[in-house]
Amino acid sequence: MPPHLHEVQAGAPAPRRDGAPVVLLLGGDGIGPEVVEAAAACMQAAARRLGRAIRLEEAPIGGAALDMGLPPLPEPTLRKALAADAVLLGAVGGPRWDDLPGPQRPEAGLLELRRQLGVFANVRPVRMFAGLEATSPLRPEVVAGTDLVVVRELLGGLYYGPRGRREGPGGPVVFDTLEYAQEQVDRAARFAFEMARRRRRSLTLVDKANVLESSRMWRERVQALAPEYPDVTVSFQYVDSCAMRLVREPRAFDVLLCENMFGDILSDEAAVLAGSIGMLPSASLGGRVGLYEPVHGSAPDIAGRGVANPIGAILAGAMLLEWSLGWSDAAACIEAAVARVLADGWRTGDLVPGGVPAPGVTVVGTRALTDRILAAIEDCTPQEGSSAPS
Ligand code: IPM
Ligand code: MG
Repeated sequence: MPPHLHEVQAGAPAPRRDGAPVVLLLGGDGIGPEVVEAAAACMQAAARRLGRAIRLEEAPIGGAALDMGLPPLPEPTLRKALAADAVLLGAVGGPRWDDLPGPQRPEAGLLELRRQLGVFANVRPVRMFAGLEATSPLRPEVVAGTDLVVVRELLGGLYYGPRGRREGPGGPVVFDTLEYAQEQVDRAARFAFEMARRRRRSLTLVDKANVLESSRMWRERVQALAPEYPDVTVSFQYVDSCAMRLVREPRAFDVLLCENMFGDILSDEAAVLAGSIGMLPSASLGGRVGLYEPVHGSAPDIAGRGVANPIGAILAGAMLLEWSLGWSDAAACIEAAVARVLADGWRTGDLVPGGVPAPGVTVVGTRALTDRILAAIEDCTPQEGSSAPS
């Protein structure tokens, strides 16, 4: 296990590289440090199982940095991230910092990190693990077999456009701007086409082309690029009806391409298809250094209680091994271990609706669940690893 994240001091010199890939751990706030610790242990175990090594570094971000008297993205943290082979982040934000002005909030640190890393494509796979169907608030027959990916554009739109507040004749007037350059749309669209090619070759663009000029450009560009990917079936869906269809027939979707804010919203909605938002990993790609995070937030209500579901972070660690280090065998070991532990009935509380476990289900805390997954990783054979879904 790595040292506790809060012990890390900003500004410590980056250790010299020794050939092992460097993964920077940014625990952040709330349950972030707990789940990152679990994910780091699983990455180390999977690497070791395959005779490899990873070098872990740590640095503060978000509210944890603010509490040390630092900005939400301290300069040394950014430097370490840019020098690392990949970054794993827990979560940022919490009620303690909610009254700070926008640029000083913990979230500003994450947005700046994404921008500095140039990670324009956020990949959020949503998969229903066999045996978890009854954990979703939706009917099991609706969610069974869900296997989709949200590709969310991450560096444009409302998150980064001009914004402000001014006095108008009738009081203050506020604005945020949904702005996209064609180049930004094209690179995200190409990424999503490529993703569809690795999967079931079906791409749905989510837009609001009946109203928004920006959406009309997204449609035009996806249509213009489609002939380059003749093997991919393209469809278009308005974001409002997509929100409905996601919970009515989730199996209709393979790859969903979304502008930044549509993707933010729909990916949380899609989380109920996986049973709990605690299950979902994400990867932010497209720059030199990939950034991996669980989709859940800092969950301040359960922080420090040892009950957080570490699986989203652990699966984010698996994505890191596969996408940034090219270790799909090690990633498959982690995924197979998670599937096995779930199949054996081990769960955190978020996966037990109503708090009453079904027969064969045992509720455990973060550390105990992680220990089960670590043991299953130790048992991974290369054959099991390479045959598991990745
Ligand atoms: C997410 C989160 C972030 C976002 C917040 C914490 C800034 O909701 O990763 O989905 O909106 O991108
Ligand atoms: Mg979000």
